[in-house]
Amino acid sequence: MTNPVALHYGGSGTLADKIAANLKNAGKDISSLATTDLASVDEFHIRGRKATLELAGHLQLSAKSQLLDIGSGLGGPARTVAEQFGCRVTGLDLTPAFCEAAAVLSSWVGLADKVSFQEGDATRLPMGDDTFDAAMTIHVAMNIVAKDQMYSEAKRVVKPGGRIGIYDVLQGEGGDVLYPVPWAREPSISHLATPDDMKHLLMDAGLNLLEVDDSTGESLSWFQVIMDRMEKSGPPPVTFQTFLGGDFPEMVRNQIRNLAERRIRTVTYICETRI
Ligand SMILES: C[S@@+](CC[C@H](N)C(=O)[O-])C[C@H]1O[C@@H](n2cnc3c(N)ncnc32)[C@H](O)[C@@H]1O
Repeated sequence: MTNPVALHYGGSGTLADKIAANLKNAGKDISSLATTDLASVDEFHIRGRKATLELAGHLQLSAKSQLLDIGSGLGGPARTVAEQFGCRVTGLDLTPAFCEAAAVLSSWVGLADKVSFQEGDATRLPMGDDTFDAAMTIHVAMNIVAKDQMYSEAKRVVKPGGRIGIYDVLQGEGGDVLYPVPWAREPSISHLATPDDMKHLLMDAGLNLLEVDDSTGESLSWFQVIMDRMEKSGPPPVTFQTFLGGDFPEMVRNQIRNLAERRIRTVTYICETRI
């Protein structure tokens, strides 16, 4: 594994084993887990499971839908959506360790027949044209330079008129990002678009923009609620620290400042592929 982004996320050791050990230490039985038991580690984005459900709610999904999750991580969003909407979800991610762990975690919660994960690059999707009814991508483009290719690839693999939901971290107007943050320890693998860049990128990729929602204020409150809860009752059994390592608390402190000082913004875009 030589890709610097995959190295940032992948860490060392088998991720599913580490997660299982943490859960067992907290008294959880792996054979009777619910998807919500994993949300503190597998919904790897600001505002967690709630944000996934909000985004998916805009994608016109039914039990017959085929959804692509671009940058699927540990597979939390894919499992949440498959469970709630009954659809099939294909996850694609650059980090091999995440793809492997995503498959194991899916078998723990009985969703292995609804979700699958494959290694690949969002800027060169290994899928044919018009394969999916919809696509989503959550907190992924921050690591990608060629966002024009990422969005035109998403458009290519989604059927004409299908929806694409994007929930991402953008560059805010408050100044440079303070590092480390969960997607990068330093600027060389961090590539944030501005809201203005996004409008052009999506339009140029052949997407019609249906809705934009800036959740920056809610994102800050989300972190504050989590910090308060952790002060009162300690961390949940398993957290992003499992794979991000010892500087995770510093990443959280920086995220709170980055949001409060509007160095970053969280924004959702709901698009439709142009026919
Ligand atoms: C912050 S995590 C978010 C994971 C997941 N979307 C979630 O919300 O739980 C970012 C993910 O993007 C993936 N990623 C970064 N660059 C990528 C690329 N070029 N192609 C595919 N995945 C990529 C990383 O491997 C990582 O799993």
